[in-house]
Amino acid sequence: MTTRRKLVAGNWKMNGLTASAAELGQMCDANPSNCDVLICPPYPLIGRFVGAAGNAHIEIGAQDCHTAESGAHTGDVSAALLADVGATAVIVGHSERRADHGESSALVRAKAEAATAHGLTAIICVGETLEQREAGGAGELVVGQMLDSVPDGATAANTVIAYEPVWAIGTGKVPTSEQIGAMHAALRAALVEKFGEGDGMRILYGGSVKPTNAAEIFAIADVDGGLIGGASLKANDFLGIVSAA
Ligand code: 13P
Repeated sequence: MTTRRKLVAGNWKMNGLTASAAELGQMCDANPSNCDVLICPPYPLIGRFVGAAGNAHIEIGAQDCHTAESGAHTGDVSAALLADVGATAVIVGHSERRADHGESSALVRAKAEAATAHGLTAIICVGETLEQREAGGAGELVVGQMLDSVPDGATAANTVIAYEPVWAIGTGKVPTSEQIGAMHAALRAALVEKFGEGDGMRILYGGSVKPTNAAEIFAIADVDGGLIGGASLKANDFLGIVSAA
């Protein structure tokens, strides 16, 4: 069986100011080494955070990137620039971007290709809405979304999947361990079938992960860590989750 090192990634979304470097500083002081740790702040903080993280075992990533190398795309940021300022990963296809910006899985896939072409790890998000779960067939839908969003050349080294049920994000509602386990098993089976390295690819769970529920979630088979929103903004909460990995 493949051993997959756990990854705990913080998605700060549109939160944080320059003063938030103090939270990162506290995380770096703790310098956790039991798993891989990533913080994805808003774009303007990335360069500063890369410098602040220094030699600590904390990587800095972004929350999105454009598909193009450069050019006339006002307000967008290329994967090339993210790599240039020291980011090592980028989240693509978060449900908030799929909803707020109408991003399709085809676009997400192109973004993931741009990311990996520049040496960034692509963290590709998938997940169903509450209506979709209640209608039945969430498993098939999310597996389909993943297969449409992951580039053909994806490897265990350059690609991470994040299963984030939309109804669990920021709501305090968490699926049962059985529901999480069933979805991750379905995603794993599809990865193994499609990719040579599918067994080695990490699948994170995201959606209302807190220090109080992290150990239970991380113990579920095929859960290889977490993508953390609100609880990644405060060092104490985030470190509590990291220590559960
Ligand atoms: P919360 O942890 O705040 O529910 O957010 C999850 C998320 O969307 C991470 O990308």
